[in-house]
Amino acid sequence: MKVIILGPPGAGKGTQAQYICDRYSIPQISTGDMLRAAVAAGTDLGRLAKTVMDSGQLVSDDLIISLVKERIAKPDCMNGFLFDGFPRTLAQAEATRAARVTIEAIVEIVLPDEEILKRMTGRRIHPASGRTYHIIFKPPREAGKDDLTGEPLIQRADDREETVLQRLIAYHAQTEVLSKFYGALAAGGSIDAPVIIQVDGAQSIDDVRKAILEGLSRITGHG
Ligand code: AP5
Repeated sequence: MKVIILGPPGAGKGTQAQYICDRYSIPQISTGDMLRAAVAAGTDLGRLAKTVMDSGQLVSDDLIISLVKERIAKPDCMNGFLFDGFPRTLAQAEATRAARVTIEAIVEIVLPDEEILKRMTGRRIHPASGRTYHIIFKPPREAGKDDLTGEPLIQRADDREETVLQRLIAYHAQTEVLSKFYGALAAGGSIDAPVIIQVDGAQSIDDVRKAILEGLSRITGHG
């Protein structure tokens, strides 16, 4: 199963990605998590990415495409994977098709901009695993600590209000068009067109999860 999860920043992609990956035993390929790991490790890529990410802009297509190509060549991707935060531009989507990566499903989480700011300010993450919490909507069992490891949770550097606004601008300018791109493939009857599952992201985390898993099970017959 190869799935892409689409949606604006803070729509709940990372949260729902974890449920999908658990259900289908596939790895989550989050370009945001990969870039944050590179920043934390202080690699050349990390140094390059940090300035761009902190300003709410997108990292260059060439860099991201080679990062993803390298990642999906790893053995754990043999039976599929979930892309979270990739593709994010038309160039990235076209490179994916050019590499003959056939995506079976696009899960698109829809959420208006007004809801996004509320979500971002309360988000906390466990940097090592990418596990995501929210101080109100998905609190950890113990405040400020990861449920599985007990390690401290942090707030992402790009979750400040002014950076979130920039990320929304980048989303509307460069990423939103992907919904139309994949919709046109499906409407054109292309045999390798993915099925599109659109979900209202304003519901509770649990209701979004149920809607997504129901949609995916219609494709796979996996109940
Ligand atoms: P990335 O890490 O991909 O960030 P993003 O797409 O902006 O998405 P987020 O991770 O912020 O949000 P999410 O949708 O995963 O929401 P979450 O589940 O955490 O990218 C970061 C940066 O890296 C980019 O700005 C760019 O610079 C660079 N980058 C990455 N990929 C790139 C690419 N392909 N090309 C170029 N540059 C790239 O949920 C948010 C909060 O809400 C959480 O606290 C959660 O608990 C809570 N929540 C979730 N669902 C609900 C719900 N239903 N109700 C209430 N609360 C909820």
